[in-house]
Amino acid sequence: MSDKSKPRGTLSVKKEGEQEKPRQSKRPATSRRVNIERDRSKKLAPKPEAGLPPPSLPRRAGEGPSSRRDAAPPPASGEGAGFSSPARRGRSGGGKEVRRPSTPAAQKPAKPDTRPQRIEQFFATCPRGLENVLAEELLELGAENIEKTGGGVTFFGPMTLCYAANLHSRLATRILLRVSAGKYQNEEDVYQGALAVFWHKWFDVSRTIAVKVVAQDSQLKSLNFITLRIKDGVCDRFREESGQRPSVQTLHPDIRIRAFLTRDRYTLYLDTSGESLYKRGLRKQAGLAPINENLAAGILKLSGWKPDEPLYDPMCGSGTFLMEAAQMALNIAPGLGRDFAFERMLRMDAKAWTRMKAEAEKACQPLRPLPIYGSDVMGRSLRDADSNLKAAGLREAVTLSKADILDIEPPAESGVLVMNPPYGVRLGEEEELAALYPKLGDVLKNRFANWRAYIISADANLPKLIHLAASRKTPLFNGALECRLYEYKLVAGSNR
Ligand SMILES: C[S@@+](CC[C@H](N)C(=O)[O-])C[C@H]1O[C@@H](n2cnc3c(N)ncnc32)[C@H](O)[C@@H]1O
Repeated sequence: MSDKSKPRGTLSVKKEGEQEKPRQSKRPATSRRVNIERDRSKKLAPKPEAGLPPPSLPRRAGEGPSSRRDAAPPPASGEGAGFSSPARRGRSGGGKEVRRPSTPAAQKPAKPDTRPQRIEQFFATCPRGLENVLAEELLELGAENIEKTGGGVTFFGPMTLCYAANLHSRLATRILLRVSAGKYQNEEDVYQGALAVFWHKWFDVSRTIAVKVVAQDSQLKSLNFITLRIKDGVCDRFREESGQRPSVQTLHPDIRIRAFLTRDRYTLYLDTSGESLYKRGLRKQAGLAPINENLAAGILKLSGWKPDEPLYDPMCGSGTFLMEAAQMALNIAPGLGRDFAFERMLRMDAKAWTRMKAEAEKACQPLRPLPIYGSDVMGRSLRDADSNLKAAGLREAVTLSKADILDIEPPAESGVLVMNPPYGVRLGEEEELAALYPKLGDVLKNRFANWRAYIISADANLPKLIHLAASRKTPLFNGALECRLYEYKLVAGSNR
């Protein structure tokens, strides 16, 4: 190791060639997490955790989701987390890869690659209120040691799981890879934390970067200043390694670095998604007040809707619920139409990614008419829904019609109604809506017996005017807007 590539003063990094055994623990994830936190708090001066032993829990490539739910989470992915340079491959200095005996190419058996993959720590962000359904989705994808917090889910797995989460998650907003974390007292501590990360092993200096900081109860005075210091840490690290630094590009950077600050802790992440995952690359017309795709998908999940059940959005706007439902029913991975930041990172497993995308393409079901219906009173909204569905290649799957919600009839004996009605922002709109809601209640009660209705609203008063008893109210956030998802189980002759 050259002096240049040596870890910085405050770090302890394993020596090259030092063997590291996979660490496993039977303790539940939470208790292990508490112990780590306690140990760290004993330190007199805050230190970046990047020098902690690298993550463990190796899983063999090709293994399915593990049922080992009691394994402790590894500590922070630290300096050099998640990669090992060719020179270091097989050594334990930065990763968990195990050196395999070298075999002459001719004698190599045609076996699948069974090298253990490094286990990384990720954080999937999502609209608040979707954490439970996101955790279930990630579990199905093979995530381990899942822990829910407000607005997201921590999970562990190899980088290929991160590719899968980006490609298949309907509910996540971003998949962040944790590269460093530690305690801090001032800006300098966070700068040192950023300086300690082997950024140059994650992405090339020619990539443009942007740093974004989110703080909760942070003691620091200026978010702008700490953002600059983190950027300085990244650039200084590059300069030390290569004499060059990456350029900053705030609008469309190649690589996004994210920092999360609490009162006394910082966490640094590499954003593996790039553009938010709800930007599926499908919706061409945004409509008047569209709901984000991942929130729409989350509401469908919360409703318990199954693809063979009729689904009807009578206020469909640009058709977000319809597109998500059609994609789910046809098993179309939400990320198939776009690219991701991890594709621009170094040492990505291009073969595994190509294979994963090919498998997802193969799993798509052929386009066919589905029991998915949408209507809207406004011609313009319907045109948006029509062109969005066409652009997504899903038009034939969905039935669209122009109708006032007060005139609609159920397209099937039973099913799921889902809608996000307008809420009053313009003068006069509130009164109009206040008049509409009781009539909407009548339509639901009188015509939609045996259906379940799900209405998301940011207005606490309007849903009361429906005069139906909600069987469930789920708090959800539509961006910064606090909403409730009201569930009505419609049974003929009851519910008032
Ligand atoms: C908030 S937007 C729905 C947005 C939609 N979920 C999307 O993602 O694009 C509300 C929609 O309700 C429609 N709308 C308002 N009053 C209506 C009524 N009486 N009958 C049917 N649709 C109505 C509006 O035209 C608008 O498209």
